[in-house]
Amino acid sequence: MKCELSITIRPVRRILSVRDTTDFSFPMQLLPEDDKMGSTMEESLSKRALESAGAFGAMADLMRIFQNMYNKEKNPNGIISLGVAENSLMHQELVEYYADKIKITPFDLTYGAGPGGSVMLREALASLYNRKFSPTFEVKPEHVYTAIGVSGVLDLLFHTIADEGEAILIGRPIYTGFAHDLFGRSKLKLVPVSLKDVDPMGPEAIKYYEKELQVQRNNGVRVRGMILCNPHNPLGKCYTPEVIKEYAKFCNSHQIHFISDEIYALSIYSTPSNTTAVPFTSTFAVPGLTDVISPHLVHVVYGMSKDFCANGFRMGCLISPWNEQIFLAAVGAVGVFQWPSSLPDLAWRTILNDHKFLDGFVSENQKKLGQHYQILVNWFKKHNIPYVAGSNAGFFVWTDLRRYLAKIRLPKGDNGKIPGGKTNIPGQPEGAQKRDKILWEKMVDGGVYVGSAEMFFGEEHGWYRFSFSAPREELELGLSRMEKVLNKVDEEAALEGLEALNVN
Ligand SMILES: Cc1ncc(COP(=O)(O)O)c(C=O)c1O
Repeated sequence: MKCELSITIRPVRRILSVRDTTDFSFPMQLLPEDDKMGSTMEESLSKRALESAGAFGAMADLMRIFQNMYNKEKNPNGIISLGVAENSLMHQELVEYYADKIKITPFDLTYGAGPGGSVMLREALASLYNRKFSPTFEVKPEHVYTAIGVSGVLDLLFHTIADEGEAILIGRPIYTGFAHDLFGRSKLKLVPVSLKDVDPMGPEAIKYYEKELQVQRNNGVRVRGMILCNPHNPLGKCYTPEVIKEYAKFCNSHQIHFISDEIYALSIYSTPSNTTAVPFTSTFAVPGLTDVISPHLVHVVYGMSKDFCANGFRMGCLISPWNEQIFLAAVGAVGVFQWPSSLPDLAWRTILNDHKFLDGFVSENQKKLGQHYQILVNWFKKHNIPYVAGSNAGFFVWTDLRRYLAKIRLPKGDNGKIPGGKTNIPGQPEGAQKRDKILWEKMVDGGVYVGSAEMFFGEEHGWYRFSFSAPREELELGLSRMEKVLNKVDEEAALEGLEALNVN
């Protein structure tokens, strides 16, 4: 079960020196050795591609884990993922539903309505927003543009609203994929906003955005927008309408884009421990929103991966109700490369138009999410592990394993530095990044994967995102593997007298 995390081919520093605008750590190079016949492989590629490959290092680590995933029959020693935000709690129901309901017609074999998705799907998505999220206006099909997953949608949006080297602000901790969506093609700069001194979901956070925007401005970097992840990944909480409105005001005061990522909008659950949690409010439902922000700056993104438990179908949409032709023409120009396949288009609109099934599916999913959340937090309580309490959205809990970092021993002579020297969490005590990576590798070697603070641009090493939406048996097995790993860390530290070390 040993996970080969050390397959780093060469540090990517040489590549990043082309222009290093990302903050990824764990960099590694994906290219083979130089071709001795003539030009090097690197020389034969564009600078753009080399930069993108360098920045993909963290994702490449994950891809390797994906290739050794647990399967009860086929790969029982594989890694159990309690790290990826995939919800399999309703998979069986969906498989049966689609097997019964998906009927392909000749239309599905054509180019259909062109990039942006079928008219039927756009109508169905507009209707979902109108029916479920109480917008203050009517969402219309012409406001909706579909593409390959929310990652694809964000790629289109970033390409449309900003030029290379320009910046997007996002409050820490941050869903790891945003970094890639921003940089992979459009080469935008992610500016993480530190919110460690305030409630990241509260209005006080906005002054830190303001401060960071001024820092960027002073450095000659143009800030083009911000993303509000609502419901929040990885915190699992929602913003109040009042806070959303304050963010809109902030964006308006600098004439920057306000992007609301609502991909978890229907993955809301209730448990006895979160009765006071803030319910989800869509940006479109905020009263008086367009009185405080130029409407063309407002965009919502939504998708099929989370609320419809279908990450593999790769469907997402941009809803941008106040934009003129020029904006949609610009999105469409690159949208042709993100043109969704007709089969997932058909699958999504079938379920969206079947209101009876959809409503039952959403409520059953929410019930199961609440039950699995409870299994996870009961496990935390049993092991005295602190976590961010009161979540009510998404599939994950932001968890504090800092006490275990102090118990990790660095190899003899190790200076605690990660090769490549990059970090997503600046200003941490020496060795903390390395200890964090060692702890994470112990987990992976122990057969369980969770996302680390480094991946999520956390404020401190030692925080992890635990997902609870695996099938129950897998969740429980993953937690028992985790228990073994953490117990072993405890035992080894006790033997070596490392308890007294203080790395926090
Ligand atoms: C907040 C957020 N936005 C976007 C995405 C990407 O979603 P998709 O699978 O639609 O590309 C994810 C996936 O984890 C996410 O958590």
